[in-house]
Amino acid sequence: MTERVFNFAPGPAMLPEPVLREAQRDLLALPGYGMSILEVSHRGKAFGEVQAAAEANLRKLLGVPSNYHVLFMQGGSRLQFSMVPMNLLGGATADYILTGSWGKYALAEAKREGQINVAYDSSASNYDRLPTAADVKLTPGAAFVHFTSNETIQGVQFPADPDFGAAPLVCDASSDFMCRPMDVARYGLIYACAKKNAGPAGVTVLILRDDLVARSSDKLPGMLNYANFVKENSLYNTPPVFGIYIVKLVTDWLLGEIGGLAKMQQLNREKAKLLYDVIDESEGFYKGHAQPAARSLMNVTFRLPSDEQQEKFLAGAKQRRLVELKGHRSVGGIRASIYNAMPRTGVEALATYMAEFRRNG
Ligand SMILES: Cc1ncc(COP(=O)(O)O)c(C=O)c1O
Repeated sequence: MTERVFNFAPGPAMLPEPVLREAQRDLLALPGYGMSILEVSHRGKAFGEVQAAAEANLRKLLGVPSNYHVLFMQGGSRLQFSMVPMNLLGGATADYILTGSWGKYALAEAKREGQINVAYDSSASNYDRLPTAADVKLTPGAAFVHFTSNETIQGVQFPADPDFGAAPLVCDASSDFMCRPMDVARYGLIYACAKKNAGPAGVTVLILRDDLVARSSDKLPGMLNYANFVKENSLYNTPPVFGIYIVKLVTDWLLGEIGGLAKMQQLNREKAKLLYDVIDESEGFYKGHAQPAARSLMNVTFRLPSDEQQEKFLAGAKQRRLVELKGHRSVGGIRASIYNAMPRTGVEALATYMAEFRRNG
């Protein structure tokens, strides 16, 4: 089978087709180098240019200020769940805001490293909402405040950069990185495993404010110390060369074909609206998991009236080449992940199918 399906997987997820085509075209030899990206030295000119271009693209797309480092690391966001508190806690207390499962997983790792205060936790309503300012109980003088901008499993997303006070703001942006503009200057650290919106599995992008680097203790293992990655420009050890190359191609695509993150946000809003409209007009047949104000542009989560109907829905979707729609086991139901690379035509096909399924079963 060479024809592509619409892949609604939560990540690894669809990549833009022009990116895949360019990677395929240049896989045997990068133009001008006569070698595959899979064969070049991470200290050579070819990769140096790729890494510099990926960083420059990210800086341009997100308007990253000059006092921030852009780093490429490995170990996924799960490693950041440990590295963030290892590097930034410094014996103080950090605040964690839990709006879904990933925040809970981040908290579990942070607790191994020191004193953590749960400043907000919506688990009682199975993570279907966002906090109001009054709901968040912050610690005066906290080392940092950690939150998850988009909870991939529940489909709950902060609609904009939140304000959680004066402590450095740390954001797990894994599943909505580059889905819209961000005011980077409001953050201490942003991290995102690339495999949803930025590239393939294996590379994690970090944007780290320079003054926080001094917090990393020499006593940390070398590979777990941000200061080493800053000092060596992400080449402390061999970086995920191919992953960074794909991040470069994805960010080329965002800058070129899409025209920047404001445009991407507009497209994402339009795509998400197509699905939420079907849910809202279904007279309760489809029930969204997230409260309307917390709805994610990236992961649309909903249920059907029964498990049998859900199975039938999934089988019918597959026949239409709409795949990977099964929700996470902790929430159940359906999850349509519609990251940047999901074309509008894919979302239209799903919306049409949802409306037909509701009418005809
Ligand atoms: C919001 C969020 N954080 C963290 C992770 C964990 O990422 P990784 O598997 O790269 O460690 C995921 C993975 O899907 C995620 O969606």
